[in-house]
Amino acid sequence: MDKKVHQLLNEQINKEFYSAYLYLDFSNYFKAQGLDGFANWYMIQAQEERDHAILFYTYLQNENMPVTLDAIGKPDKVFSCHMDVLKAGLEHEKYVTSLINDIYGAAYDVRDFRTMQFLDWFVKEQGEEETNANDLISKMDLFGSDPKSLYMLNQELSTRVYSAPSLVL
Ligand code: FEO
Repeated sequence: MDKKVHQLLNEQINKEFYSAYLYLDFSNYFKAQGLDGFANWYMIQAQEERDHAILFYTYLQNENMPVTLDAIGKPDKVFSCHMDVLKAGLEHEKYVTSLINDIYGAAYDVRDFRTMQFLDWFVKEQGEEETNANDLISKMDLFGSDPKSLYMLNQELSTRVYSAPSLVL
């Protein structure tokens, strides 16, 4: 495997674990605010990010490439309102999309078609993640200021259940 592609794939393990940690922090914020549905939604988001990390980890192992695990950064955002959290989620997903695109670009440059095929799933996944984050912002925009509607939205988000990723390596 090309050195740069390997390095970026290995770094992505850490980025995905950081994403899991970040969303766990979001979940923690909402739990403290008494919004268990939102807390549930971000807890499941954290589980999905952990899955993403393991997919990168497993892909490198399957390719007989070394894996190096690095320290995970501290989630240090301070939020002044619920909407801040949701917007930080969307910004983070846009950032992750740019990271996936960078790896894809590096793989493309060296005609690493296998890595490109592996990343195809993530390209699609990032589209869904950004849509989900945007939807949440729209709903909060519409209903967040009315306590009764916020309660209903919280109920809706409490129904999200975890499912394993559709990509199996
Ligand atoms: Fe692993 Fe939310 O992207």
